[in-house]
Amino acid sequence: MPELQRLRPDHAPALLAFEEENRAFFAASVPDRGDDYFTHFAARHADLLAEQAAGACHFHLLMAEGGEVLGRFNLVDVADGSAALGFRLAEKATGRGLATATVRELFTLCTTAYGLTRLRAAAAVTNTASRSVLTRTGFVPTGEAPLLSGKRGVGYVRELATGLSDGV
Ligand SMILES: CC(C)(COP(=O)(O)OP(=O)(O)OC[C@H]1O[C@@H](n2cnc3c(N)ncnc32)[C@H](O)[C@@H]1OP(=O)(O)O)[C@@H](O)C(=O)NCCC(=O)NCCS
Repeated sequence: MPELQRLRPDHAPALLAFEEENRAFFAASVPDRGDDYFTHFAARHADLLAEQAAGACHFHLLMAEGGEVLGRFNLVDVADGSAALGFRLAEKATGRGLATATVRELFTLCTTAYGLTRLRAAAAVTNTASRSVLTRTGFVPTGEAPLLSGKRGVGYVRELATGLSDGV
């Protein structure tokens, strides 16, 4: 069964493989990371771990039993009990509810380990899969329409302090 793990230094090779293998799949829905990301992956990984150690972010990988990365679920801009959620799943792991289940699992971590009471998220209007995951896990549209790399987006919020018994 896949396991959600907090990002660690030794995750680097598996995470790089995940990003390389799924680069074209991700680029169809979210902006491509660019060649520099892959060239300077080790430095970028170290930067993320430093940000995490400082408490500004909480990064997670969904790991398969064999040590393969199936997805990443990131909480960034942590402040005042709130954070922004972002996620991506390996193409071959999509379509079986893994993102939905993992976001729900993350809610528990948010309230028990991270002291978060509110999550924000945004998805392109055209990103049906992401919007479906957000809606199914109780995110509600804020009415904001952020531009996401030039694409029209939908802003969402999920209050975590209440409703933790209603399917989360
Ligand atoms: C978004 C993403 C994480 C969803 O992962 P997933 O594990 O397939 O999600 P789930 O199976 O939990 O739910 C996906 C839902 O979207 C639906 N869906 C998937 N693709 C769809 C599409 N093209 N059109 C309509 N619905 C779609 C699925 O049917 C499912 O809904 P259902 O169970 O009611 O049928 C994954 O597709 C992904 O990583 N995409 C690329 C990166 C990305 O877009 N990240 C989000 C940025 S905001």
